[in-house]
Amino acid sequence: MERCLQRNAPWNIAVRTGSLNAMTSTNRPAAESGTCGGVCESQRGAATTAPRGALQRPAAMTRNLDVSGLVDSDGGLLDRAIFTDEELYRQEMRRIFAPSWLFLAHTDQFHKPGDFFTTYMGEDPVIVTLDKNRKIRAYLNSCRHRGARVCRADFGATRNFTCTYHGWAYDLEGKLISVPKQDGYPESFDVKDWGLVEVPHIETYHGLIFGTWNPQPVTLRESLGDMAWYMDAMLDHDPDGTVVVGGVHKWVLDGNWKLTAEQFATDWYHVNMSHASALMVLSPTGKGPKDEIIHRTGRQYVDPNGHGAGFPVHPRNRFDSQTVHEWMDYTALRERLGQARVEGPMTTGHATVFPNFSYLPVNGSIRIWHPKGPDKMEVWAWTIVDKSMPDEVREAQRLYNLRTFGPSGIFEQDDGENWSEVQAISRGFITNGVALNYQMGIGSEREDGRHPGKTSELYSDAAGRAFYARWRELMNTPAWHEEKR
Ligand code: FES
Ligand SMILES: [Fe+2]
Repeated sequence: MERCLQRNAPWNIAVRTGSLNAMTSTNRPAAESGTCGGVCESQRGAATTAPRGALQRPAAMTRNLDVSGLVDSDGGLLDRAIFTDEELYRQEMRRIFAPSWLFLAHTDQFHKPGDFFTTYMGEDPVIVTLDKNRKIRAYLNSCRHRGARVCRADFGATRNFTCTYHGWAYDLEGKLISVPKQDGYPESFDVKDWGLVEVPHIETYHGLIFGTWNPQPVTLRESLGDMAWYMDAMLDHDPDGTVVVGGVHKWVLDGNWKLTAEQFATDWYHVNMSHASALMVLSPTGKGPKDEIIHRTGRQYVDPNGHGAGFPVHPRNRFDSQTVHEWMDYTALRERLGQARVEGPMTTGHATVFPNFSYLPVNGSIRIWHPKGPDKMEVWAWTIVDKSMPDEVREAQRLYNLRTFGPSGIFEQDDGENWSEVQAISRGFITNGVALNYQMGIGSEREDGRHPGKTSELYSDAAGRAFYARWRELMNTPAWHEEKR
């Protein structure tokens, strides 16, 4: 089995010398893999045409590793270094997060010009706001003067963004509109050159706002592919869409962001074991769920772009708030979404949109796994409900989600323990070199005639293998900022 996984040469040298630091500092330079020697000096890190003057970064600052040997998606093996290595993590920022569509916020968080919400794209802080024409825009939340955040609040409403360091101020269109003591700058200083760096593309899908730094991306809809059909099982119950209930829960987890994204794409397998006590509490008899629920049948959607969704297909597959369940008009939903969706992805399922957006349809929980270094993440979670849901039903949904998948929810805590457990020991030198198993359901992906795209069994690692295949592909592909223009 081990023969299928091959760390590249610098890794092997490092393993022989037994030094993790040496291992990460002897990586081969990007020149071997990039279209312009791996990195174009003039473009690196520049998201806009912002002036860089005579600045030029040395190529060695952004060397890229060939990760082919760290993911064996055909054989179902994974090298744990992808969860622990600092240099791979920095490469993820450049090649996974900079080019991908990333979830930013829900449209219901913005109603009038100046409403804003601050979040992250990878580790880059961004402000999402409505400009004067009610257009959704997003800016890098970093002052063009000395780099402080120009907006330090989590959310709110404003007329402009004023940096509290020296007072540069920007309007809702990102233009620099005020510079204290501007007469001290040279004549060549032009405020037009020093506006906020803007996220070039923002698109929404049924209320979910995504952005990408890629100047020429495929459309969001195209990148979602067949995954959109599965997402609609949560987002498209009613023509008025969804709204957010309450605020955003945020908590810190000791774990690599991929552990959570991957689990939501692929892992129903852990449910009966990890959540045994929670299932016991939720069962009407207190003795645990009935056999037919434990031994569920279901499917797992496997997307070529790394997305994934798992869902049982059984009439009793809803663990939800009784109030919500009784309010749902399943006849109307069947008409709108079709039988296959109501009895499949609308049930107690799980899903991930690559790279780091996940959701739980029955709970109305949408969340993003913000990377904070290779071994830490912040979880940000919203509860969304159908707009037509009356207040008392919304409240029931909010409480149900809080009880199960809130930061102290009975399921969420089980999951958090697992992720932190895996991460905590992965830095051990011997441990780190022992491959992980993703072989469940190998070869089982097929068109099942009921759900779009390819699906596997409910208990399967198929979407996990696809997730890491996509990760490997992007990690080995020079991103837009590395290309010659
Ligand atoms: S860092 Fe923003 S005004 Fe100086
Ligand atoms: Fe879980």
